[in-house]
Amino acid sequence: MNRVALVTGGTRGIGAAISTALKEKGYRVAASYAGNDTAAQAFSKETGIPTFKWSIGDYDACVAGIAQVEAALGPIEILVNNAGITRDGMFHKMTRESWQDVINTNLNGVFNMTHPVWPGMRDRRFGRVVNISSINGQKGQMGQVNYSAAKAGDIGLTKALAQEGASRAITVNAVCPGYIGTEMVRAVPQKVLDERVIPQIPVGRLGEPEEIARCVAFLVADEAGFITGSTLTANGGQYLA
Ligand code: CAA
Repeated sequence: MNRVALVTGGTRGIGAAISTALKEKGYRVAASYAGNDTAAQAFSKETGIPTFKWSIGDYDACVAGIAQVEAALGPIEILVNNAGITRDGMFHKMTRESWQDVINTNLNGVFNMTHPVWPGMRDRRFGRVVNISSINGQKGQMGQVNYSAAKAGDIGLTKALAQEGASRAITVNAVCPGYIGTEMVRAVPQKVLDERVIPQIPVGRLGEPEEIARCVAFLVADEAGFITGSTLTANGGQYLA
């Protein structure tokens, strides 16, 4: 059965690895993205995965985007809420804008994407939702009050929604990556990465996007129906939740 999967932020970083891994497993995959047309075109050319552009921070845009994906591929059975942003800064320097941007994308975006696909999953009595949270939603991170709040919120959403979906065979799970070698992490000042972050990772290195993609592939499988409301941690031992 070639189930349809949509991966938000699915053209770069961890999202690109998830889109690719799901395609390799035989799913029909769509990848959404918000801004970087060049990266999306290159990704689509390389993988053959269709890409769709809209902002997950805008509910109406999500409804319209989802309709486009469903017209092209069929009903979305698997949703991977991967898209996210950072606007790091110490709290005393944090602007209201950087607070709101991060909450709007990283937390409201999960609502905006999941709410429109949820009725169809209920009707069809099958669904898989995976929310990419973060180690920093579990432990909190200095310089990331906005991000940590949003990512912790994603875990709460996951646990509550899992209970609502269970009777309709819809699972909702969170994956909490640690520091993965993507553009987002490479934007952290090198000195901070070398002196403060990597020494705290017992396996002694950043993670690979493919290591997170493997977690997602495990959770979205038809055989994973008994796993719901869980938080799958993949952080090289940096934080044991
Ligand atoms: N862990 C431990 N200490 C940290 C730290 C971290 N991640 N980030 C900053 N610090 C420390 C600095 O080493 C510095 O300590 P000292 O004063 O003792 O030297 C102090 O905090 C202040 O840091 P800066 O001098 O860099 O202050 P700044 O105002 O110029 O910048 C900052 C602050 C924007 C938070 C910057 O330090 C930064 O970007 N830090 C990284 C924050 C981080 O870990 N973000 C994760 C991004 S990746 C991601 O979010 C993906 C995911 O899910 C894991």
